[in-house]
Amino acid sequence: MSDETLVLDRDAAPNPDKAEGAPAIPDYLRETYAWAYLSPRSVRFLDRPLVVSSILWGNYRRLLEALLAELEPGQRVLQPACVYGDFSTSLARFLGPRGGLEVIDIAPIQVRHCRRKLAGFPQARVRLGDAAALQGGTYDAISCFFLLHELPDHTKRLAVDALLAAVKPGGKAVFVDYHRPHPLHPLKPVTGLVFGLLEPFAASLWRNEIESFASAPGAFTWSKETYFGGLYQKVVAQRMEGDPN
Ligand SMILES: C[S@@+](CC[C@H](N)C(=O)[O-])C[C@H]1O[C@@H](n2cnc3c(N)ncnc32)[C@H](O)[C@@H]1O
Repeated sequence: MSDETLVLDRDAAPNPDKAEGAPAIPDYLRETYAWAYLSPRSVRFLDRPLVVSSILWGNYRRLLEALLAELEPGQRVLQPACVYGDFSTSLARFLGPRGGLEVIDIAPIQVRHCRRKLAGFPQARVRLGDAAALQGGTYDAISCFFLLHELPDHTKRLAVDALLAAVKPGGKAVFVDYHRPHPLHPLKPVTGLVFGLLEPFAASLWRNEIESFASAPGAFTWSKETYFGGLYQKVVAQRMEGDPN
């Protein structure tokens, strides 16, 4: 295990990431996804645009654009986990200097890496935080890109509830993630194999609607669009204008 993975537990030097109340790295991340998110080598390798695009079978740009289509420049947006590639910089650029992007991530190495990428964007800030236990704050929109499939179902529920609670009246939570593909989709077998080997919490999005993870979905209007033969989905939950949250 690298020093980076332990920074929250034992780093004795003063460390701006190690504020009182900083979240611990959850077991699911340490046990299942350390190889992808907690080692400096993977951060360097997986952050390449070509890798991001390949993992999504060439659909990255289309899915990013589908998400941006739900937002407006000048909005205050929460991104509840870092994403590899140019996702955060594209979002910050789209929101513009009058907008605000707040990125949180539970892993200090991801926070540091994303801060470096967003250094030229004064409208963006990156901090440690747990998407499943947000501490206050409301936003015009939430931009949740491929986070849910990496969370165990219990944490999916906590995260969906916490993210919905952070949406202002009239605002939106936008979830882009995996979805059950068409039965004859040529990539269904290989995706199922990857889920079985590397992504044990992902297949739950093949069986459950994202809305079903919300404990009080009624305060929102829900819509869903699917992409690439159903392999991906965008779900938008818009809080009703009169709802006080
Ligand atoms: C957005 S998800 C997957 C993104 C996508 N696979 C990509 O291209 O980067 C990955 C990030 O989620 C973070 N993460 C996992 N659980 C989290 C939680 N409860 N709160 C905040 N961030 C979390 C991980 O540290 C990691 O940086």
